[in-house]
Amino acid sequence: TEQFRIALLPGDGIGPEIMAVAVAVLEQVGQLCDLKFEFRAALIGGAAIDQTGQPLPPETLETCRQSDAVLLAAIGGYQWDALPRQQRPETGLLGLRAGLELFANLRPARILPQLVDASSLKREVVEGVDIMVVRELTGGIYFGQPKGIFTTETGQQRGVNTMAYSADEIDRIGRVAFETARQRQGRLCSVDKANVLEVSQLWRDRITALASDYPDVELSHLYVDNAAMQLLRWPKQFDTIVTGNLFGDILSDAAAMLTGSIGMLPSASVGASGPGLFEPVHGSAPDIAGQDRANPLAQVLSAALLLRYGLQQSAAADRIERAVSSLLEQGYRTADIAAAGQTALGCRAMGEALQQQLATALPQS
Ligand code: NAD
Ligand code: IPM
Ligand code: MN
Repeated sequence: TEQFRIALLPGDGIGPEIMAVAVAVLEQVGQLCDLKFEFRAALIGGAAIDQTGQPLPPETLETCRQSDAVLLAAIGGYQWDALPRQQRPETGLLGLRAGLELFANLRPARILPQLVDASSLKREVVEGVDIMVVRELTGGIYFGQPKGIFTTETGQQRGVNTMAYSADEIDRIGRVAFETARQRQGRLCSVDKANVLEVSQLWRDRITALASDYPDVELSHLYVDNAAMQLLRWPKQFDTIVTGNLFGDILSDAAAMLTGSIGMLPSASVGASGPGLFEPVHGSAPDIAGQDRANPLAQVLSAALLLRYGLQQSAAADRIERAVSSLLEQGYRTADIAAAGQTALGCRAMGEALQQQLATALPQS
């Protein structure tokens, strides 16, 4: 029996609801695949603020560092939105990503055939979409200095952020993206704003220079405004997308909607060494928190990515992904992916259906 330590960060809003489903699924798959998981829960976000006064207590970072992988649900909520920046839930999440040096965020947007009609776009536009967004996660305008709200000589307030990338930062995310594209369809599209921003000019120059090391990958470039439009116009033109922190945040939410619901999209964040972080692309959904209405599948699929890329347990990951597909095949839906007139299950019932499916499915199919 192989043994792994997994840090669990349920966070806020729907976080604890979807985390409970993912943990039950992991426990079950562990038994089926002869893996033993030692779970360690830790505080982050608003939950951590309420209990300790800070969004990322040092013990949480320590627990994560001592784990083989980290599973996070989501953070944030209205009640903490007025706090000073240093005490906000989002600052805790950014601190965790920076603290674990998770510079590469992989956000797959693959449309499952069973969900084609859940997308707000036409069937022929979304059918067969399979995109990987490689988002730089520890640099760019999220972290650049100077930042802050300053008072000018005339007494006016001025909000400042700085979008900056060093050549090294661009090269390391670029290499991850080229490697990723190479494992997929071999097409990489780099997204920037090089027609206006110097930081993007350097981005484009460095990515272009890297291309000679990957002759088997076809590289193209798009400006971010056009990329957003192209994603909605004809998403099948994309295979792998590489972009900076802010553009990647925005484009990955847009790509999520191609697949029918943001409640379906997992993500994996990795660095050069140390544990990876696995979390849904969506947030804490405060509008539906506590109502048992959340779709737990992005969280469950994040657990599958954790098994595959964090622990190298692809057989266990396959089991989860197959169970999700077959549930959808059988018509199980939460409200966000249900068609008009289709019955919608709550978060807990969806989890139970998934466990039932895992229990009856054959190991291979
Ligand atoms: P959100 O992703 O939380 O919600 C956007 C919309 O999608 C809402 O209508 C919500 O109900 C719906 N939704 C999201 N996940 C769903 C799921 N699993 N099932 C069904 N519906 C789902 O984004 P937001 O409303 O802009 O942000 C809410 C809070 O979450 C904010 O505090 C924000 O900072 C935070 N946030 C956190 C993360 C994260 O933890 N990684 C990501 C995004 C936003
Ligand atoms: C995400 C979220 C976060 C981000 C926020 C909550 C800090 O939107 O994970 O996509 O902007 O990276
Ligand atoms: Mn986001």
